[in-house]
Amino acid sequence: MPAPISGRRRRAELTQLSPADLREALISEIRSMVAEASGRDPREIPAEAANPDPMLLYAVLQPRMVLRLGFPLCPYDLAACRSIVSLAEHLALELSPPPAPAAPMEALYETGDHIGRPSARQVGPALERPILFVISAPRSGSTLLGTMLARHPKIFATSELCLLPFDSMGARRKILDQQGQMWMRIGLLAAIRDLTGMSFEAAMADYQRLEERDVPVAAVYERIQQLAQNRILLDKSPIYALDPACLASAERLFREPTYIHLTRHPGAVIESLVRMRFHRLAPQSATAAENPWIFGEKVWTGANLHTLEFLRGVSAERQLRVRYEDLVRDPAKVLAGIAGFLGIGFDRAMLKPYGETGSPGLPPDDLRAGDPGFFGHSGIEPELASDWQAPPQRFGTTTRQVCAALGYPAQ
Ligand code: A3P
Repeated sequence: MPAPISGRRRRAELTQLSPADLREALISEIRSMVAEASGRDPREIPAEAANPDPMLLYAVLQPRMVLRLGFPLCPYDLAACRSIVSLAEHLALELSPPPAPAAPMEALYETGDHIGRPSARQVGPALERPILFVISAPRSGSTLLGTMLARHPKIFATSELCLLPFDSMGARRKILDQQGQMWMRIGLLAAIRDLTGMSFEAAMADYQRLEERDVPVAAVYERIQQLAQNRILLDKSPIYALDPACLASAERLFREPTYIHLTRHPGAVIESLVRMRFHRLAPQSATAAENPWIFGEKVWTGANLHTLEFLRGVSAERQLRVRYEDLVRDPAKVLAGIAGFLGIGFDRAMLKPYGETGSPGLPPDDLRAGDPGFFGHSGIEPELASDWQAPPQRFGTTTRQVCAALGYPAQ
């Protein structure tokens, strides 16, 4: 499969086409993906034929779309998967986000529209084993950083545990079902599989038992940490920064956890959130109706503001700020700084997040949440630090304040 950096280029090319040419180009791209999946000639794939079940086309395209066209297919698109033509017409509209409103963002969105909310009570003694939280806005390079750190023999990392917003696994299950956010199960499932050496099926059964028995989240963390033995557990889940209550929960559950605040230029993050259509990921939430540029700004500003405020209450030796731009331009220096912060010594394996060979494409046994385009790269791409288009809006006052606090230019 082509790399997502070419997916990004392909997306940019598509947005230059006339509506009629765009429709035809998308039909041809979708046909070719279906042909690739079914081993048939693209000319044999009927574009108009209606699918009895839209899920069939969705399942074929979902793993391919982001690598090929630079944006993911999400459940919001499912209804349009009735036929190749109807999906192409729907995606043609999705490729042109509406303009940003003339007025800048006024107030940060605070509707209580969170995935889940942990209770504020102390549930038991704080866990003693070491844990490192990577906290960031989504699209800040957290998958790359997490994968680099996971290569260190003294760190155990899975993709995204997504545990902090919940008190117990049964409650978590209910909320994820209700909100259609089942992808949040992947990171923990992968951790169980990787730490126990179980087959996928056995790990899934084990995972389901945690939900059926409504095991407290604290006990799940304790078990994962025991299985990770003397390694530091790395939990990077960008959803944590969206809610101050989640961040506070980290300090309640663990004794002296450590934190990396990963930052990235707001322009790059907002552009990525719009390109990747994050406003479509939770269609039932109030945010889905928002202008995508303003939605993206609220995500960047909220996540970084919450993190700054939270870390003000954490001692300096337990926190480190890392800029994505520095990480991709000078990974050895930044990773050496992180190793020093954690007291684990530098390991060169961290410089090779894609392993020794680093070939693009999804590994066959991949089980991970996180950046869906990560495996289209084959190495660290320093040009992504500056290869983004400035979003169209004027930033609001709070965004400017957070920019100043983090040392990013406000436009
Ligand atoms: P883009 O949409 O700009 O490509 P996260 O993992 O926090 O969701 O962040 C995703 C971002 O990480 C991507 O956003 C991309 O810029 C960056 N990224 C992913 N893989 C990378 C790589 N191999 N080298 C450099 N940056 C990478």
